[in-house]
Amino acid sequence: MEFHVVTLFPEMFRSAFKGGPIGRARTEGIISISAHQLRDFGLGNYRQVDDTPYGGGAGMVMRPEPIAAAIDHLDRSHPRLDRILLTPQGERLDQVSVRSLALRRPGLMLIAGRYEGFDERIRSLVDREISIGDYVLNGGEIAALVVIDAVARLVPGVLGNPSSLKEESFSSESLEYPQYTRPEEFRGMRVPQVLLSGNHELVRSWRAAQARARTLARRPDLIARIKP
Ligand code: 6GU
Repeated sequence: MEFHVVTLFPEMFRSAFKGGPIGRARTEGIISISAHQLRDFGLGNYRQVDDTPYGGGAGMVMRPEPIAAAIDHLDRSHPRLDRILLTPQGERLDQVSVRSLALRRPGLMLIAGRYEGFDERIRSLVDREISIGDYVLNGGEIAALVVIDAVARLVPGVLGNPSSLKEESFSSESLEYPQYTRPEEFRGMRVPQVLLSGNHELVRSWRAAQARARTLARRPDLIARIKP
């Protein structure tokens, strides 16, 4: 699966996925991540990508032509990518949308903007708009990194142990159960006896109850979302 980012800050994507399972998957050719400099498609000698807003107001707005040119360029070199605009106005990313993005082939074109916003006509150039949450970032780059991280790890072969996918938070609409490793006692806090018991059935039901209780306490909204 391919990830192509259009950005004014391609260097933000150089080191982010060098190590870990995603770095290994890149080396093995399971996924690819490329960053493309939007400035290369800018206007005039100054390679302009933004301008003042019609109607006045503070800040700058991304012009449509450079983004359109970048999209056209990528369409020729890498056809049929899903075009995704990173914007706080987009649909909010969650594990359900991450799973659907991980099924797209050949992959995703992620368009990250800076400045105060996009010219409205840019929205007509993309397939989807995505936000990573209800807060404001200075640009789409960090959101694009989040999308790549969350999506890439679901691509078959990226994670060593796919069974770890099944149990983790949000995959089953609940938070994970508490985990412990050595030592058995740390600063007076003991590992729950049931985990040392060797009784796998008891461990399984304890973990299920803990996950449920933890979800109720911390994220009751997740339980409310489960369809009966
Ligand atoms: Cl995708 N972009 C920006 N600039 N801010 C955000 C965001 C995206 N998602 C949440 N906040």
